[in-house]
Amino acid sequence: MSEKTVLITGGMGGLGTELCRFLHKQGYRVATTYIHDSGREERWKGERAKEGYDGIEVFMCDVSDWDACVKMGDEVRDKLGHIENLVNMAGITSDATLAKMQPEQWNSVLSINLTSVFNVTKQFIGPMVEQGYGRVVNISSVNAAKGQFGQTNYAAAKAGMHGFTKSLAQEVVRKGVTVNTVSPGYIATDMVLKIREDVRSKIEAGIPAQRFGTPAEIARAVAFLLDENAGYITGTELEVNGGLHMR
Ligand code: CAA
Ligand code: NAP
Repeated sequence: MSEKTVLITGGMGGLGTELCRFLHKQGYRVATTYIHDSGREERWKGERAKEGYDGIEVFMCDVSDWDACVKMGDEVRDKLGHIENLVNMAGITSDATLAKMQPEQWNSVLSINLTSVFNVTKQFIGPMVEQGYGRVVNISSVNAAKGQFGQTNYAAAKAGMHGFTKSLAQEVVRKGVTVNTVSPGYIATDMVLKIREDVRSKIEAGIPAQRFGTPAEIARAVAFLLDENAGYITGTELEVNGGLHMR
């Protein structure tokens, strides 16, 4: 294959930025979506360029919005042509016990973490099937399988990703397209650092590895599943959690 192209949703976040670097180093043409703060894309691209990661393309898109995803899909194809590799990474938390959780917290977490996977994958899966090659990696979480106090919304959305993954994997594998999930444990990004300090230290102490993971450890797992030689691995979940949960 001459040029490998990858689109990462949420690629400007803590895990996403490292994945962009990792795949760029492996020779991928990298594109990412972002949502927040106009002007940020230029800053982020400038920072990556200073580090030597030139030419990363960025596309504004709220992945929870179907029409925005249709528009983004057209823009990506206009600029980059066919996308063989897709990583659904955009996501948020809005933690609260169910007793305190508001409908808005439920709806935003379900739509940004789960409906987004439908919205974005639909834009790219058809051409992958037509070309007879594709890789989709969905970023779930250890808390999909383990559950977590304060995360009924998030755990439900992330568990939903597994059902989506296994079903789509069956639909497209004979066309050379694989669909898998990577389920990170607690990784030191803003998402984890915003957990209340006392709660966070208890979580860290409960991880058998006795530390949070690093974004590079997740990037390596995603890259493994994106590899051209990983064509017989599909519908599976790669857990990267320092021993926090084992099945
Ligand atoms: N198990 C059982 N009981 C617990 C508990 C737990 N894990 N945590 C707290 N409690 C108890 C407390 O002891 C307290 O009991 P009392 O009322 O008897 O004193 C009660 O539950 C209320 O606890 P909090 O004070 O913590 O409740 P709160 O409303 O202030 O906070 C919360 C709730 C915001 C959900 C907070 O507990 C929290 O932040 N938890 C961590 C959630 C978490 O792990 N989020 C992960 C974010 S990162 C991520 O999601 C990435 C990924 O995929 C891994
Ligand atoms: P992060 O730094 O907060 O990054 C989240 C990314 O999602 C950001 O790039 C953000 O865009 C994007 N995003 C949020 N809402 C969006 C929307 N409506 N449309 C488009 N993009 C949106 O968090 P992270 O730690 O890198 O997490 C990345 C993914 O890994 C998430 O799906 C998360 O659930 C999952 N995960 C993380 C951990 C962990 O411990 N960190 C563990 C398991 C799973 P902007 O850049 O524009 O803000």
